[in-house]
Amino acid sequence: MDEIKDLACAMVIFGGTGDLTHRKLIPALYNLNHDNKLSDDFAIVSVGRRDKTDEEYRNELLESVRKYSRFKPDNEKWKEFRQKIYYRKLDFSQDSGYTALKAFLSSIDEKHMTKGNRIFYMAVAPEYFEGIVTSIKKYGMATNIGSWQRLVIEKPFGRDLDTARYLNKTITDVFDEKDTYRIDHYLGKEMIQNIMVIRFANSMFENIWNSKYIDNIQISSSETVGVENRGGYYEKSGALRDMMQNHMLQLLSLIAMEPPVNLDTEAIRDEKVKVLRTLEIMSPEIVEQNIVRGQYGPGTVNGKALPGYRQEEKVAGNSVTETFIALKLHVKNFRWGNMPFYLRTGKRMPEKTTEIVIQFNSLPDILYFKNNGGLEPNLLVIRIQPKEGVYFQFNGKKPGTGTEVESVKMDFCQNCETISNSPEAYERLLYDVLRGDSTLFTRWDEIETSWRFIDNIAKAWESKVLDLHEYGPATWGPEEADMLLKRDNRKWWNL
Ligand code: BG6
Repeated sequence: MDEIKDLACAMVIFGGTGDLTHRKLIPALYNLNHDNKLSDDFAIVSVGRRDKTDEEYRNELLESVRKYSRFKPDNEKWKEFRQKIYYRKLDFSQDSGYTALKAFLSSIDEKHMTKGNRIFYMAVAPEYFEGIVTSIKKYGMATNIGSWQRLVIEKPFGRDLDTARYLNKTITDVFDEKDTYRIDHYLGKEMIQNIMVIRFANSMFENIWNSKYIDNIQISSSETVGVENRGGYYEKSGALRDMMQNHMLQLLSLIAMEPPVNLDTEAIRDEKVKVLRTLEIMSPEIVEQNIVRGQYGPGTVNGKALPGYRQEEKVAGNSVTETFIALKLHVKNFRWGNMPFYLRTGKRMPEKTTEIVIQFNSLPDILYFKNNGGLEPNLLVIRIQPKEGVYFQFNGKKPGTGTEVESVKMDFCQNCETISNSPEAYERLLYDVLRGDSTLFTRWDEIETSWRFIDNIAKAWESKVLDLHEYGPATWGPEEADMLLKRDNRKWWNL
């Protein structure tokens, strides 16, 4: 297939022995290969600091594919795939290895016909980003002459606006914006891509998608796990930087954006960034009123004792890092006016789920009632994970002789109905990098604008330490998060 032939390239993974490579990148590439979506002229060169042979490395990857891949390794397919994988030892902070890496990549070009095309994937800790990118330039590995070179960069993209700007400056000295792929893996999830289709391909929804008909929108992403072995990283980020600055604000942009003029990459990104630009400015007073911070404490779940955040590895015993955040914000434009958006995300909650609830305005309680109470509002629920789908909650007559009303659901479960399981986010995203399509990656101005919003919150917290509320494991965060909505006569929908 010609399109695939055009994807000839070598993918250089910095951080080849890390968790991301084992859990996500290699399984995703294996699946793409399984689906014949990789060119025959493709090779993977993993770079890490440990000593190991190609054979050892390939065997370790086989274990990871067994554990984490959507398609389990099949002898023939694995044999074909493993021949494309190489491992090179390199100390990222030393210059010497880059000359050897460059020479090795030239030999790969000859062996695998990869034509000098490269994808450089930063799967390393953020403190190495700058040094690696600078060395790529210094050793002439991103000249873009007669071939192409692209950079894929994982989050965190900076830890505030200033550090993000600095990092971006380092990158743009080497790679054009069009060759820079800033990953937000949420954008690779099937249902997130479906948000625009649901909104802009259904007159039923788009015509009422505004503050006149919608009462509020809730975006929730919860996890059952704690920080596990990532305490060192998490201490510096907290839920605000780890989830809110990127995944949650990306979801908000897609839910709140105007229709783009067409489906081109830039047209879509233009509309998303406008939402971020119109976010209400978080003054210290608003932060104090509209944001709740929480941290999970110790407790027992299903008979198992779980540590609190402060007892986790590499976490300070008196840490004030938040593992939960709930906030209320406004998108200050004509479509949304004063309608509130409520966002919350946290670890050690009762379920692993990401969903968006659109709560429509209620009708006056004049004709019908439910159990002598008010009518339940109509809800449109977009389920991102683990179930993928959409459901609509509406009111119907309870069968029988009375006039009592009950809530009923129309439920479309996408991953229950499709025969094959949905591709993993990383499959879609890596395939797009290979094809040179950056629609599902974040443009610099989106990052810049989201940091501006987040920085105001972080600064307000620094100037006046906001209460940090402890919550128990397997709960929906601290009570104060419920109060945030109760105060507005609303409630979180834990559906
Ligand atoms: C990552 C965060 O970006 O997203 C993690 O760093 C979090 O802390 C993860 O666990 C959640 O991703 P997913 O796809 O499992 O919802």
